[in-house]
Amino acid sequence: MRNTTLMTVLGACALLAACGKSGEADTTATQGSAPAAASQAAPPEPTAEEKQALLASLPAPYNTGDLANGKAKFGMCRSCHTIVEGGANLTGPNLYGVFGRKVGSLPGYNYSEAVKTAGFTWDAEHLDKWLAQPRTFLPGTKMTFPGLKAEKDRVDLIAYLKVETGYKAP
Ligand code: HEC
Repeated sequence: MRNTTLMTVLGACALLAACGKSGEADTTATQGSAPAAASQAAPPEPTAEEKQALLASLPAPYNTGDLANGKAKFGMCRSCHTIVEGGANLTGPNLYGVFGRKVGSLPGYNYSEAVKTAGFTWDAEHLDKWLAQPRTFLPGTKMTFPGLKAEKDRVDLIAYLKVETGYKAP
C-alpha cells in the first residue's frame, strides 16, 4: 500500500517547499554532496492517496471535509503560520503537529499569557471553537484573526490541517 509510483511521489513533492529545496540542492550541489543532502531530507510527504485515506478515517464530520476548500481557507492563515514540519514561526507559531500538542507549548515561540496558561490539548473540537472566534474563546490572545464564521469552512479547514500537519489517528 505504501509503495507508490514515481509519478505520485513527484506529484506530492511538487506541493512541498522542502522537496523544492532538495531539488535545488540537487542541481547546485556537487555530485559528492548530493546524496548526503538527500539522506538528511525529511521523510517523504504522504502521497495524495495516503491523504485521502487519512481523510476518510477521520471521525465525522471531518471525514467529509473538502480538502480543496480547506486549503483555500488556509490562505487566511498563511501570512502568519507555516504548516510544514520544521517550518518557521512567523507572526504565529508553526502548526505542524498541532493536534495532540498542548496549547501554547511550541518551544521557541513567545505566546501570550492567555494561550500559554490555557491548559488544554489541541483537538478538532478546541480548534473549531478557536477558529470561530479566537478572541472570545481565549480572551487576551494576540492572534488578531477575526474568526471563520461558516461552520462548513471550519470543518474543511480542520480536515485539511489534520491531513497536512502530521496528525496520526490515535
Ligand atoms: C495575523 C496573524 C494570524 C493569522 C491570520 C492567524 N493566526 Fe493563528 N496565531 C497567531 C498568533 C500571533 C498566535 C499566538 C497567539 C497567542 O500567543 O496569543 C496564533 C496561534 C494559533 C494557534 C495556537 C497554536 C499553539 O501552538 O497553541 C493555532 C492553532 C492557530 N493560531 C491557528 C490558526 C489558523 C488555522 C488560522 C487561519 C484560519 C490562523 N491561526 C490565523 C497569528 C495569526
